[in-house]
Order: sequence, then C-alpha cells, then structure tokens
Amino acid sequence: MMIVFVILIYFNGLLVSSEGNYLPFLHPTNYSVLDDILDYAVNVSLPSPLRFGSSCHTEAWISTHGLISLGTSFIAYIPNSFPISTPVIAAFWDDNDLTGRGEARYAIITPTTNLSLCNQVNDYLSTSTGSSVSVEWILWAYWYDLCPTGNNMF
Ligand SMILES: *[C@@H]1O[C@H](CO)[C@@H](O)[C@H](O)[C@H]1NC(C)=O
Ligand SMILES: *[C@@H]1O[C@H](CO)[C@@H](O)[C@H](O)[C@H]1NC(C)=O
Ligand SMILES: *[C@@H]1O[C@H](CO)[C@@H](O)[C@H](O)[C@H]1NC(C)=O
Repeated sequence: MMIVFVILIYFNGLLVSSEGNYLPFLHPTNYSVLDDILDYAVNVSLPSPLRFGSSCHTEAWISTHGLISLGTSFIAYIPNSFPISTPVIAAFWDDNDLTGRGEARYAIITPTTNLSLCNQVNDYLSTSTGSSVSVEWILWAYWYDLCPTGNNMF
C-alpha cells in the first residue's frame, strides 16, 4: 500500500509545492474522491491563474497516476514519455488502477471555504519563511491506498 500527497499553495504570486509530511496538519475533511476508475483525470478550476513557465493556467487536472497537469488532461500511465509539452507536477507517476482499491482525493481550499485551515497554513509558512504569508488558495491532492495495476483487488 502506498500513500502519496502533494499540496500546492498559492500566495503572494508564488507557488509552494509540498510533499510527504510537510504541513502535517493539512488534512481537509471536505474533499472529492476519484475511485473505481482507470486512466483518468478530473479537472478543478484554480481560484486565480497560476503562472507556470510562460503560460498562465486556470485549470488543473488530477490524474489517477499521481500527476497534476495544468491546462489540459494528461493521463499517460507509463513514465517514459519525456519530453512532454503538458506542464505536470508529478507527486509520483505510476500505472495505478483505482478500480479495486485506492483513491485519489482532492480539494481546493480558500480562505472563504476554510479560513481556519488557511490561517494555520499562513502561521506555519510565515514562521518558517520569516515573511508574512497570506494564502490565496490551496490545491490538496492525496493518493491513498494505491496498488500497482493487476494487484488492486480487495
Ligand atoms: C477546515 O479544516 C479543518 C481541518 O482540516 C476541519 O477540521 C474543518 O472541519 C474544516 N472546516 C470546514 C468549514 O470545512
Ligand atoms: C465541500 O466542498 C464542495 C466542493 O468541493 C462545496 O460545494 C461544499 O460547499 C463544501 N462543503 C462544506 C461544508 O464546506
Ligand atoms: C472541466 O472541464 C470541462 C470541459 O473542458 C468544463 O466544462 C468544466 O467547467 C471544467 N470544470 C471545472 C471545475 O473547471
């Protein structure tokens, strides 16, 4: 069983990506779930445009394979496709099959939808970076209870 998550935090025009146990308190209780599905990605709209390279993106796609792509769906399941033109944030990249067990959980959090959580993140990042942080939004993605394809039965 493998559990991976990535958190993208957008503030002051900057993007912070965090993996593993960083921000361990950041466990939203209200999230969407992708499960019982194969080779798929779902889109969320970003509350403000995200600059990545020379483009700005307002949509992110969370894939069953551990990737978040910007602007367009990206569901290649074998990590040998480089170079790729789609911007992706790869928490990991593997051929997960969510048709048995396993889930991809995701949420967009803003000060409007969860002020106390955003304030916790602000306090944490302000303290650890030494400059005042005010989160605009957080994209939280959590791949939970994953198994390799073919080994996904309950
Ligand atoms: C905000 O997040 C906290 C911590 O994850 C959670 O306990 C709380 O229920 C959330 N509040 C709302 C309104 O979703
Ligand atoms: C939970 O999230 C959904 C969309 O992600 C939103 O429509 C709903 O209002 C949220 N519920 C609470 C209690 O925050
Ligand atoms: C997802 O994409 C579809 C088609 O491109 C679009 O109609 C829909 O509004 C998008 N949903 C979100 C949450 O951005």
